[in-house]
Amino acid sequence: MLNREDSLGRPYAIRPARPADAAAIRTILSDLADAGDFILLSPGEVGADDGPRRDEILRASSNPDRWYLAVVEQDAAVVGMLDMRAVPLQKCSHVMEVGIGLAPAARDRGIGTALMRHAVERARAAGCRKLRLFVIAGNDRAGHIYGKVGFRETGRYREEVRVDGQLRDLVVMERQLT
Ligand SMILES: CC(C)(COP(=O)(O)OP(=O)(O)OC[C@H]1O[C@@H](n2cnc3c(N)ncnc32)[C@H](O)[C@@H]1OP(=O)(O)O)[C@@H](O)C(=O)NCCC(=O)NCCS
Repeated sequence: MLNREDSLGRPYAIRPARPADAAAIRTILSDLADAGDFILLSPGEVGADDGPRRDEILRASSNPDRWYLAVVEQDAAVVGMLDMRAVPLQKCSHVMEVGIGLAPAARDRGIGTALMRHAVERARAAGCRKLRLFVIAGNDRAGHIYGKVGFRETGRYREEVRVDGQLRDLVVMERQLT
């Protein structure tokens, strides 16, 4: 458990996810999917049943150096999540992919930046050599914080994502850890 303060001086913690967090994680993902703009998931893809997510949390917690699921807790509520997992191929097992998301009320208070810094520290401690993420072109707030913690664009899938009928690029950003 890491106890911190956001930019308004309100305490929060980053801690490994527990099975009991499954419903709160679903709510965060559903809200993000409903908002539409900036995550790849669509509303029907979040999954209404929390059982599989509870199983995932248990599986991740049994080998956190390969799959690390963490949440942000503030005022006794889960307001954010981090999902970081190693590429499941032996030849690429030094690479991890990371994704984060925060509830609307938790944004713009420095928590996303802290979560990404935490991801970098955890990845290093797990022996990971490279972190990778994907961000939809136009998600400037996310792109800004990824740049701040050392990620750089290394490529893009052209016109990969359809958002409100418009095709957007999917930007690949990476951070070397050596
Ligand atoms: C993206 C997200 C994780 C960022 O976390 P956050 O806690 O809101 O971000 P922080 O408060 O740590 O930092 C926000 C930074 O972005 C900057 N910012 C805000 N809006 C911006 C914009 N439209 N363009 C560029 N920068 C912007 C802020 O100035 C701040 O930078 P600074 O600290 O250098 O001043 C969070 O807002 C979120 O979950 N958004 C919706 C889902 C999402 O986009 N997830 C990422 C998918 S790849």
